[in-house]
Amino acid sequence: MKEKNSPSAVVSETNSPEANHSSIEEGVQRHWQGVVKRRSFLKGLGIAGATLSAGALLGSEGNAQATRSPGKLSKGDAALLRFAAAAELIEADLWQQYNELGGVQGGNPAFIAALSNLDGDMPQYIADNTDDELSHAAFLNAYLISKGEEPVDLDAFRNLPSSQATGAKSIGRLTNLLKLNVDLSWYTRYRSAKNPDFGVKFKGPFTIENQPAIPLNDNDTPPNQLQPVPPASPQEARMQAIANTAGFHFAFIEQGGASLYPTLAFKATDPEVLRILVSIGGVEIDHFGLWHDKAGNAVNAPLAGVTDPETGLTFPNLNNPATELTQTNLILPEPCEFISKNLPQCSVIRPAVTQNGGAVATIKAFTDDLLFLGQSPAFFSLVKRLAVEADSVRRGF
Ligand SMILES: [Fe+2]
Repeated sequence: MKEKNSPSAVVSETNSPEANHSSIEEGVQRHWQGVVKRRSFLKGLGIAGATLSAGALLGSEGNAQATRSPGKLSKGDAALLRFAAAAELIEADLWQQYNELGGVQGGNPAFIAALSNLDGDMPQYIADNTDDELSHAAFLNAYLISKGEEPVDLDAFRNLPSSQATGAKSIGRLTNLLKLNVDLSWYTRYRSAKNPDFGVKFKGPFTIENQPAIPLNDNDTPPNQLQPVPPASPQEARMQAIANTAGFHFAFIEQGGASLYPTLAFKATDPEVLRILVSIGGVEIDHFGLWHDKAGNAVNAPLAGVTDPETGLTFPNLNNPATELTQTNLILPEPCEFISKNLPQCSVIRPAVTQNGGAVATIKAFTDDLLFLGQSPAFFSLVKRLAVEADSVRRGF
């Protein structure tokens, strides 16, 4: 049996107001306090257009149940699905970039080889993950339309630059993968018996900052170079570090989806909307588990120790020494605190409360990741509004 987490990986721990739900009434009250806090938080993000009034939020919430009619979605359920559609369009955009270069039919042989050093099936998994996200986005928008609701269209914001490397299409993008800060706290979080929904904060086993996750151009990383293990030349090391970063970024993105969908599902009123959110959310969790396993191969022998000659990022060997919080094959979630510290520990997705894993938290995490680097104020305004509307929904009865 695994030991409990050491305190070294826990940045801080406080008593979360959401940790002990003693009654529905108290839970609702705390939710609304959280909405007000998140509004302040959004303004602190520097996201333009954080102008939704508390009255507007309350109005949206108040209408969530009142406007429901047979065959139609409540405003609340529509808001949940609209944010999910936006998140899936964002996911699909970044996965398409990975797929063009490193998928099973991708166009950059050296990137494919470097990804394959993590696992020979990586290119196939990248292609399939891309298909999944495209299907999620298409389904959610089609479902919204089928219910007479507005779909989500982010096409006006596909203006970010593509990679110039062989394989990448020269088209506008929603998301940036050319320089990322990859939050690795999930790696430690799922190995710990602590739960962020109880106020615990985690730090990752190492840091990835300002690092590309796709090759930038052919001068930087020649598309037909070999990718031996360990890399022999600086350019091979550069490409391997980029592929390793991608491996960790895949898991970062999908663990976000794994937490987002439970928070959305908890608010759904219509059983069919609940079915959609639970069913898509399950696939996000499946993705996360897969990528968690593959990322570990970048920080284990024989691949561990790669250093990017441009950025200085080094991928350490997390099995030397192996600890409960770093050992690479401890990928299945450790049982942790859940609902109440008075109950037995339980192996669950975490975080799973709105404040930590909801729509606003997802947009903040993607922003901190630099995924939206270069995006317009109008883009931030739109995704922020969709996020606040989703987080503000309360389940009807
Ligand atoms: Fe998805």
